[in-house]
Amino acid sequence: MGSVNIDWKNLRFEYIKTDYRYVSRYKDGSWDEGKLVEDNKLCISEASTALHYGQQCFEGLKAYHTKEGKIQLFRPDENAKRMNKSLKRLLMPEIPEEKFIDACMQVVKANEEYVPPYGSGATLYLRPFAIGVGDNVGVKPAPEYLFCVFCVPVGPYFKGGLKPVNFTVAEHDRAAPKGTGGVKVGGNYAASLLPHEIAVEKGYADCIYLDPSTHTKIEEVGAANFFGITKDDKFITPKSESILPSITKYSLMHVAKEYLGMEVEERDVYIDKLDEFKEAGACGTAAVITPIGGIEYNGDFHVFYSEEEVGPVTRKLYDTLTGIQFGDVEAPKGWIKEV
Ligand code: PLP
Ligand code: COI
Repeated sequence: MGSVNIDWKNLRFEYIKTDYRYVSRYKDGSWDEGKLVEDNKLCISEASTALHYGQQCFEGLKAYHTKEGKIQLFRPDENAKRMNKSLKRLLMPEIPEEKFIDACMQVVKANEEYVPPYGSGATLYLRPFAIGVGDNVGVKPAPEYLFCVFCVPVGPYFKGGLKPVNFTVAEHDRAAPKGTGGVKVGGNYAASLLPHEIAVEKGYADCIYLDPSTHTKIEEVGAANFFGITKDDKFITPKSESILPSITKYSLMHVAKEYLGMEVEERDVYIDKLDEFKEAGACGTAAVITPIGGIEYNGDFHVFYSEEEVGPVTRKLYDTLTGIQFGDVEAPKGWIKEV
């Protein structure tokens, strides 16, 4: 494998400039063909809607090296579909699914040397994004758009990989009930910076967001979805329109049911009923599966399985999901796209 000099085993979730990125421009009603470029700087109008009115959205997916040395993407069609939901919500032009996947494939191929080797635990994170650009000052959609994809080799999002981390419950909301919580737009993340910082200052990895109308139900775990395992081995995950529909979460629901024979339920999860779970975790592309040691709420600290060790069900879910992603476990039809 390539000539880049990277300490794969000690990678964090941090930006590293790779060699090529993809850029396509939307102008006069259509996307151009797009091309790979070396420059990692964008030059855009000072009056771009992305800068003032948050007219931007993004995605996150990963490329994996298999034992045989192949490179594969995990469910990129799902990211393409979700990106289009985000684009539609912000009155931005949709990106054909084939164009989205082709852009991801081009970026991975051009940066092949940066795909971490099998067994290192690291992966190549792809960040597709779209922004409104061009001269505009009123609150209205941009005259032009850019769709870009860059990639970064990454290690675990939360320190320690499968080691449990603790969370506190945020006092702030990340998204309104009929707002933009269900789509992947930058504004949601801007709103999360302060509660995240408050949680970190209190000694937690991140914060849990409750449902914005009643503040009684769990919605998200930082930039990841929540799941809990009941004492009778059911996989439970919250349901709400202000949660980002996590591709990892829906994949885990399938894995739990079809690979591990568990019952699966998407329903309300009350913050004052954490006792119903013997294990809990956060799941997402960046977070993969991060076991939740405990949750602080109103001065009480609730521990699930352990603050030190991952629980057995969470480990099985992790092993099966990552087994599929790295090509060691047979994937459901259509989940893997070879690069
Ligand atoms: N929730 C939020 C707020 C996120 O940013 C992410 C990351 O994409 C997720 C959940 C997990 O979604 P996915 O599994 O599709 O990466
Ligand atoms: C992801 O898991 O892809 C995320 O979006 C999380 C975060 C880095 C924003």
